[in-house]
Amino acid sequence: MDIRIENLTKIYGEKIVVDLEKMTLEKGKVYGIIGPNGAGKTTMLKIIAGLEDSTKGKILYNGNPLNDLVLKNITYMSQRPYLLRTSVFNNIAYPLKIRKYNRKTIENKVNEIMQELGIFELRYQLATSLSGGESQKVALARALVFDPALLALDEPTANIDPNSIEIIEKAIVRRNREKGITVIIITHNMGQAKRLCNHIIFMDRGKIIESGKADQLILNPEKEETKRFLSLYIER
Ligand SMILES: Nc1ncnc2c1ncn2[C@@H]1O[C@H](COP(=O)(O)OP(=O)(O)O)[C@@H](O)[C@H]1O
Ligand SMILES: [Mg+2]
Repeated sequence: MDIRIENLTKIYGEKIVVDLEKMTLEKGKVYGIIGPNGAGKTTMLKIIAGLEDSTKGKILYNGNPLNDLVLKNITYMSQRPYLLRTSVFNNIAYPLKIRKYNRKTIENKVNEIMQELGIFELRYQLATSLSGGESQKVALARALVFDPALLALDEPTANIDPNSIEIIEKAIVRRNREKGITVIIITHNMGQAKRLCNHIIFMDRGKIIESGKADQLILNPEKEETKRFLSLYIER
């Protein structure tokens, strides 16, 4: 799915939290959003994913405004995913059930993705009893199982061990390569941004300060603000 944004703003009270002039996201690419807390990253991603209204502006998905068909092809994974109080299997099967897949197909697809993410052993466990990393994997499985055209991820691997991060990243990359899905990922992990993203967008105070090819933006930023932000990530 390709996305075009024009003059998008979101205002809470008196505060402009998102203020974008123009942004184009191409089909099949992976976009990283970086920036400090409160920059407007989550708000922007939720608006793009159709979960929140903008105050004004235009977004086109493959040339069309947001409609039910577009919404059906978008998946948003929140930083703290909300899992249903039922088994892991039922949580992952849910998006397929509401899309009326038959029972056999549901079983095959859910089993396959649980294997891929290393959570097959958890299939009968109550999803609300999982650890942080396990919950994130279940949430990602639920987000990917119906092959969305746009995957919007809000800090999907915050507070997760490196092994689980690797499993999650592999699943994201695989869907992007094999199915050509467009991915937007908010991250505070610059290594992850470099590993996954074609393109990085640096946001602060609701605006895009700088955007460019991943390697170039991270290793060789042009703007002073970007340099300052990235310098805070250098391990000492
Ligand atoms: N529902 C809301 N009502 C009022 N202010 C909000 C609301 N949601 C977010 N904000 C404010 O919008 C700004 C951007 O928030 P957010 O998009 O969550 O930033 P980020 O994800 O970059 O940390 C913050 O100052 C936040 O307090
Ligand atoms: Mg956020």
